[in-house]
Amino acid sequence: MKAPDNGLIHVSEDRVFNLSNQRISYIFRVSPEGILEHVHFGGAIASGHGLSAGPRREFRGAVLEFQGIKHYQLDDTPQEYPLFGTSDSRQPALHVLNSAGNTVNTLLYKSHEVSSTKPKLPNLPNARGGNSRTLKVRLEDAVSRLEVTLSYTIYEHHNVVTRSAEIRNAGTEAVRLDSAMSSCVDLPQGEYELLHLRGSWSREFEVERVGVPQGRFVIESARGTSSNAHNPFLALMSKGTEEQHGDVIGTALMYSGNFAIAVEKNEFESVRITVGINPFNFQWRLEPSEIFSTPEAVHVFSNQGLDAMSQTWHGFVNDKVSPPQFSSKARPTYLNSWEAAYFNVNHDVVLGLADKAKALGVEMLVLDDGWFMGRNNDTSSLGDWQTDVGKFPQGIEETARQVKAKGLKFGLWFEPEMISKASQLYTAHPEWLIQVPDRVLSTGRYQHTLDLSRQDVVDYLFECLDSFLSTGLIDYIKWDMNRVMSEVGSTALPASRQLEVPHRYMLGLYRLVGKITSKYPNVLFENCASGGNRFDLGLLHFMSQGWVSDMCDPIGRLSIISGASYLFPLSTLASYIGPVPNHQNGRVSSVKMRKEVGFFAAARGLSLSEADLESAQEEIIDAISLYKATAQDLVEGRFHRIKNTGNEVCWQLNSKCGGRVYVGYYHVLSAPNLPFRRTKLVNLDASASYRLQCRNTNFGGDALMNLGFDLPYIDAMQEPDDNGDGHRMDPGDFVSRLLLFKRN
Ligand code: GLA
Repeated sequence: MKAPDNGLIHVSEDRVFNLSNQRISYIFRVSPEGILEHVHFGGAIASGHGLSAGPRREFRGAVLEFQGIKHYQLDDTPQEYPLFGTSDSRQPALHVLNSAGNTVNTLLYKSHEVSSTKPKLPNLPNARGGNSRTLKVRLEDAVSRLEVTLSYTIYEHHNVVTRSAEIRNAGTEAVRLDSAMSSCVDLPQGEYELLHLRGSWSREFEVERVGVPQGRFVIESARGTSSNAHNPFLALMSKGTEEQHGDVIGTALMYSGNFAIAVEKNEFESVRITVGINPFNFQWRLEPSEIFSTPEAVHVFSNQGLDAMSQTWHGFVNDKVSPPQFSSKARPTYLNSWEAAYFNVNHDVVLGLADKAKALGVEMLVLDDGWFMGRNNDTSSLGDWQTDVGKFPQGIEETARQVKAKGLKFGLWFEPEMISKASQLYTAHPEWLIQVPDRVLSTGRYQHTLDLSRQDVVDYLFECLDSFLSTGLIDYIKWDMNRVMSEVGSTALPASRQLEVPHRYMLGLYRLVGKITSKYPNVLFENCASGGNRFDLGLLHFMSQGWVSDMCDPIGRLSIISGASYLFPLSTLASYIGPVPNHQNGRVSSVKMRKEVGFFAAARGLSLSEADLESAQEEIIDAISLYKATAQDLVEGRFHRIKNTGNEVCWQLNSKCGGRVYVGYYHVLSAPNLPFRRTKLVNLDASASYRLQCRNTNFGGDALMNLGFDLPYIDAMQEPDDNGDGHRMDPGDFVSRLLLFKRN
């Protein structure tokens, strides 16, 4: 077999499919029986030698032999899209109740095609193509008349393979999908660890790392949003992997609803990753000739540890996932009205805040909740998207016009997917709620979810948003979503289709955000769901940035940003300097600390009371000026996690050209007589020299990477660092230093 040409995909005569760029390969083949067998996902293999050997066909005790073929046991055969019930007893990629009333199906290879165009998934977000090749492989079950098309895309410049599946009912009777995963990767026996991002409200993106045991480990959501409990991302790695070394396969689902990522290690220590829509509480009725498309799964490979994995995700998200018109565009600093006024907003308050914003150097004013009809607290009015003329007598348009006349941009808060029972919309359309008959509905923040599986609801919401955006006065939308789903059902669907509602909802949501964001490509959309309750690649495809957490306390943010950065580039993160004592955890921290943690996000701003804005005016002016001066580096730079002991965190950001290197060092709790700490930096030019601005000292790039430099230290017994040389931090708890190295 020849090495793949720069066409990226090579198919040999004996049907070995080799998807390779210069650095990674994804290889599978068709077995003599027609089963699609996985061969390799990892470092590049250009030669074809040895690829068609194995899996071993040996006697295996009590293990079943597929179709009676001697020693061919699917239970220990790595496969691409496995099914249950024909000698593989692990969790399948696809589980279908066929028209004969059983779930025994077999998929065999039929044909394939390679294309340089990456097709779009219907109504679902997908990574863009370009410098890529897509392979489609068609499989069939001749008995149950199922046709499955697996799509694989490999990129020339990213160490990424994307996958999705299309299931078509080619029979004459309806079938029921009980599970239709996007991808399955069967890995060879080995000692693995996994890392995933767990959390809760205001504690999103906590990193958990565990060894992979025999059995199944699943992260999932059944709440209707991808959720803050588990982000739809998981890294599986060789035991002992660190930031700078080790083999890692990262997997994420480009989807914002119920998902599952499972890692299953069986008795032969083979490891299976499956990823897709959560099979729990999911069913889909597929009529003859209908097609079901799964969301897209993204797999990345790094043989240089977790840092390189994150660099791959960051580059890929910026290049192929988030809206291209914003991904490398500096984001405006903003003042949000929420903590300054809560629901007590009106024309004069907003104009007053606009004056403050202007005086502080801020570039955009965001009018948060409280501006629409009857919305004086959180018990009412969601769904009634018309201006409250008691508060804004000349309409939001006039307020926006006057804010913009001051030279500011104007942003507006919406929570489109929600409805309050105390609203005109509910009176007119009680059937528009997500609901099941004869049950009292659970509430979350007094509100209910609109049924976006209905096209009339999607149309209504589009018109509401369009009526504001068509004025041309709105530069930014904060798209909030503050409750998860319960009692899930739709008045528009028959009983046999009620379990389709969560996925139909997502399709409706994507239709809505797809239509509105493509009609207004220059409006910046921020995705928010009580913070990070729906922060995923699916919505990032439409909305350039996300409110990663309601937690604005800088210590709380340290673990949130560290965790989010495994997958998400700083260009997608929003942050602001919030009030003290912090509203979520009660901690008091300095403006300096809040500024220096908040620094590491592309979209930066303020949400403070008027009194706070007044009392900290000088420091805030400094912060905003720093944020504006570095805005381009935050969207285009490369971020590295340098150190994290829990009590000490160090981050590094290199500007795109590498000429500026920002190092944030954060110390949580103080202690006496601490050791002097040194840290090494990464990804510098070894032959260049860098000047640490505050110490006026030059360092070689090689010295910074191999020897490191002395971190600032805390010594409460000595004078604070008043000559600004960056050696000593303020004494006490919750202190930080932001250092800048410039390449000479
Ligand atoms: C959510 C958001 C807040 C604010 C309020 C408004 O809680 O996270 O930032 O927008 O809604 O009701």
